[in-house]
Formats: sequence, C-alpha cells, structure tokens
Amino acid sequence: VSLKPYNTFGIDVRASKFIKIQTIEDLKKILRKTYAEELFILGGGSNMLLTGDIHKTVLQIDLKGKEVLEVKDDYAIIKAHAGENWHEFVLWTLKNDFGGLENLSLIPGNVGTSPIQNIGAYGVELKDNFVSCEAINIQTLESRTFTLEDCEFGYRNSVFKNKLKAQYIITSVHFKLSTKNHQLKIDYGAIQSELEGIENPTIKDISDAVIRIRESKLPNPAKIGNSGSFFKNPVISMEVFKNLQQDFPEIPNYPISECEVKIPAGWLIDKAGLKGHRDGDAGVHIKQALVLVNYGNASGSDILMLSIKIREIVKEKFGIDLEPEVNII
Ligand code: EPU
Repeated sequence: VSLKPYNTFGIDVRASKFIKIQTIEDLKKILRKTYAEELFILGGGSNMLLTGDIHKTVLQIDLKGKEVLEVKDDYAIIKAHAGENWHEFVLWTLKNDFGGLENLSLIPGNVGTSPIQNIGAYGVELKDNFVSCEAINIQTLESRTFTLEDCEFGYRNSVFKNKLKAQYIITSVHFKLSTKNHQLKIDYGAIQSELEGIENPTIKDISDAVIRIRESKLPNPAKIGNSGSFFKNPVISMEVFKNLQQDFPEIPNYPISECEVKIPAGWLIDKAGLKGHRDGDAGVHIKQALVLVNYGNASGSDILMLSIKIREIVKEKFGIDLEPEVNII
C-alpha cells in the first residue's frame, strides 16, 4: 500500500500492511495478535517525514465521534475521538458556540495526535483547554486516562514524545470549553490587524482571522506537500541572545524567562538567505521559511537532506542548532 495519501508531505513510500481502525474492539483485536514492534501507528500523518518504506503493519487510527459530555453554567466538557479531523472538530465546536479552540483553527492532523506535540498557534496551545485523554497501552492493552498533569505538556512536547514514546495509542481527548464569556486571545499582532474594524469580535471572527492568516503564508498540504513548521523555534540563553543582537539588531525574540529567549527559526532561515530555496522538488516555502515543502516528487531523503543543509547553514551563520519539530521516520 502506498502511504502517499496518508502523510501531508505527500511522500510516496509503501507499507507492508495497512489497516484502518474504526472501533476500539478492532484495535484491541489487532494489538492482541501483533507484537508492538511490528506496528506503526498513524494518525493524520501531518507531523512526520517518511524516509523509507515501512516494513510493519500500519494502523491508521480512524475512530470517529464527538460528544458533549457535560454542560455546566459557563463551560462544557467535550469528548472527541482520535480519528476526527482537527480542523473539522474545531469548526464544530464553534458552530455550537463552544469557545477555546478558535486560535487553533486550520491546523492539519487529527484529534488523537494533537496531545503528542501539544499543538499550538497564535498564543494558544492544546493544553490550555485540555482535560484528559484516553489511551490504550500497546503492550498490555490496558486503558488509561491521562490527566493534564500526566501529559507533561511543554512547547511542542509531551510525555508521549518522551518517556512514553510509542507506548500508547490515544483513542479520545476531553476538552473543557467555554459556553459564555469567552476569553478571547488576541494578543498576537497578526490577529489584531485582521480584526481591525470589528467592534466586538466573536470566537468565529477569531477563527476566520486565523484561517486567513494561515492561508496567506502556510502552504495547503492538499496542494503542496508539507508538515507545517519543520523545526522548533530554538530557545537560547540571554547571554547568547545579547551577542547575536549586536550583529543582528532587528532579530525578533520572545523572552520566556529572565535568562532565556525564543527566536523564530523561520527568521533565522530567512535571514540565512534560504527562503524559497529549492533542491529539486524539496524546497523552503516562499512565504514562510520554517516550512519545508514537497513540490511533487521529492523523496523523504530529499527533504531530510535539505533540512540538514539548512541546519548547517544556520549553525554556521548564527551558532544556533535547529531541532526538527516533525518526526523523522
Ligand atoms: N519570520 C521571518 N521569515 C520567515 C518566517 C518568519 O522573518 O520566513 C519572522 C516573522 O516575521 C515573525 C517571526 O519570524 O517576526 C515569527 O513568524 P510567525 O508568526 O510566522 O510564526 P513562527 O514562529 O514562524 C510559530 C509556530 C507555528 C504557528 C505560528 C503562529 C513553531 C515551530 N511554529 O511559527 O506553528 O502557526 O507560530 O503561532 O512554533 C506548526 O507548528 O506547524 C506551526 C505552523
């Protein structure tokens, strides 16, 4: 089976076996008869770079369903199953006037993989509205509930990328969303400019603004293969930052504590002259240098080689190590 339709980079690699999982019972049945090492778990395929054929059984988690579990005076608890498309789920919450996820509109991928890297955009992260997730242990088949604390969320990070890596399959996520007095997050400059002229913006207005901003600079994976930000924004010490600032006074920066600063990787790559750079079908997006793209027939290794080249050039110019955000398989 070709995995090309199942990864947003559009990389054409093959899987020995491919099974869509639509019920928990089916999932357990397969886990019971297959060794964990022979399985490869796939969600929306939006945060991975496949660099070779997968000689394993690919399980595509396609569990569907959304439920309102509880409605209190000013909030509701919503459950979404892992195979729900993230953006369609966000639109559904907005249609029901549940607030909290509007800034996370148009992020590719599925609900079930959103906690793994604590997806985030425009001043909001998944963890801000997260209550818990249900997951099944691949080895023992035991079901477990992970609370906010259990997930150890960080910037594009969680326990599922670290000590529990590849050990659990997330089957559903619970969110706490507002039903009135929505707390709008509009600090982000680009959102403010988009909202200009709108008197009392609604959560739908914010979502529309985010969609417009994303569409203006991020490539649509249905048209040009990509996995969103390829690298994390590096965090450097204040000391290193002060030195850099002497050479590059205009360097954008977000202080995250008294001694650490986050620098946009996109700016570093752009400033290194690589925005729009292309090696065959592997390229750096023209409008946002943090996004690597597949113009058609790039292989996973082509993209990987380009990413290594970018890391070397950025390291050489700024002395900063970029760390990939996507999982390289
Ligand atoms: N910049 C450039 N050139 C570029 C790209 C960016 O100079 O080619 C500069 C911008 O001018 C701006 C700064 O870098 O001053 C930040 O750019 P932007 O607002 O586009 O955000 P980002 O830091 O590049 C992060 C997330 C995105 C998320 C946006 C908005 C990471 C790794 N990426 O990007 O997330 O949508 O902020 O919140 O944290 C993703 O994870 O896949 C993703 C798209």
